[in-house]
Amino acid sequence: MTADPFHLAWFTSFNSPAWRSAWGGETGTEWMTGEYFVDMARSLERAGFDFMMFEDSTMVSEALGGTSEMDLKHGLHSPKMDPLPLLPLLAAATKHMGFIATASTSFYPPFILARTMATLDHLTRGRIGWNVVTSSEDIAGKNYGMDSLPEHDERYDRADEFVDVVEQLWDSWEPGAIVMNQETGHYADHTKVHPINFEGKYHKVRGPLNMPAGPQGHPVLCQAGGSPRGREFSSAHANAIVTALPTVDKMKAYRADIRERAARQGRNPDDIKVMYLVQPIIGETEAEARAKFHQIYGMDDPMQIEQTLGVISAVTEIDFFQFPLDEEMPEGVTTNGHQSILDDFIQRNRGKTLRESLSERARLGPELVGTAESVADQMDSMMEEVGGDGFLIRAETGLSHNRRYIDEISSGLAPVLRRRGLIRSSYDHALFKDNLLAF
Ligand SMILES: Cc1cc2nc3c(=O)[nH]c(=O)nc-3n(C[C@H](O)[C@H](O)[C@H](O)COP(=O)(O)O)c2cc1C
Repeated sequence: MTADPFHLAWFTSFNSPAWRSAWGGETGTEWMTGEYFVDMARSLERAGFDFMMFEDSTMVSEALGGTSEMDLKHGLHSPKMDPLPLLPLLAAATKHMGFIATASTSFYPPFILARTMATLDHLTRGRIGWNVVTSSEDIAGKNYGMDSLPEHDERYDRADEFVDVVEQLWDSWEPGAIVMNQETGHYADHTKVHPINFEGKYHKVRGPLNMPAGPQGHPVLCQAGGSPRGREFSSAHANAIVTALPTVDKMKAYRADIRERAARQGRNPDDIKVMYLVQPIIGETEAEARAKFHQIYGMDDPMQIEQTLGVISAVTEIDFFQFPLDEEMPEGVTTNGHQSILDDFIQRNRGKTLRESLSERARLGPELVGTAESVADQMDSMMEEVGGDGFLIRAETGLSHNRRYIDEISSGLAPVLRRRGLIRSSYDHALFKDNLLAF
């Protein structure tokens, strides 16, 4: 049995790749020019990827150990640059692939976001997407005049309204509003451009947008809700949902839940592609792949432990240095940060020490280890069991995010998947959204 064709995407940040890895080269400084990501985009498009997605946050975290030392030592959340201005560079270097950048509904004013995304959609000729996040870290909120973020579910209520405003702004110019009538001298027809006069609980925006929406109209919306409220939000709006789940059973249940929620909200579930985070570890032999896997996730390296603790501390806003590494996590830890990430972590931790569970946390997805052929087999059977829609590949940031790893995927794994008819062999549409929703 073989799965239906699925989508491939890449998950990354606009930050330093694995500068201290053996194959890091000059990437520790080069990433800031965007050149590293331009090379990556070319390589991934050649391989048949649907999109690259850039996660984002706007803080120097002090969650682990109470100071910024760990965050800056490992370059975890800082330095990190804004992915939005990077997108046109990537689009200019490619022809078909889509590019998704993250922007927070808790921090942007909706008018600016709508305008920036519409501008990017024009600049890239319809190849961008917006990863809609509500953010979870109070320390980031303090950069925008807040003492703390609104409570978890209320952030999603604000986000629902935010997306509504943004979509109304994109729709505030009717198709054909630009007439360019040389005889009458009209560039745009004012009867086709309408204020939105939005007055909600959280946002008040007059409109219209001072420019027409881009080629996609509404760019691809991407989301990663994990909690029930988050899933309700993502299934209402998203075209791509990204998720990090450790087992095929959980992946399957998550997709069924999203599709059920989408249908209940009047959407066609096929208009949503659920993309599962994975990091395939590929070797020329099974033994080589296993050895690499152990090097990356074995947690023998104290720096790996610090990095993994730094990431989980930052997103949950809980100092994980307080928990002994060789004991189980205590019960009843709560946060106003990413609660579902914390709950999930604690639940998976049952019967395991913190050190043991960090290995799985660093991996953030099911295990995929072997030669290119055997990893392709595993992806095939995983996708068949889950029911679709695709994989979101990520390189472990500290040790394996380098050009060598990207090439293992784009020149090693992807051609095997393509030969088997499991991934696209062409892009049949001009717009990112049309390619994404084509199968
Ligand atoms: C693959 C993936 C990517 C994510 N990217 C971001 C991001 O860029 N910025 C951010 O603040 N949160 C990001 N998140 C967190 C989600 O937006 C969401 O808050 C999280 O999955 C927890 O779900 P919940 O908010 O419903 O509790 C990401 C989550 C996942 C699984």
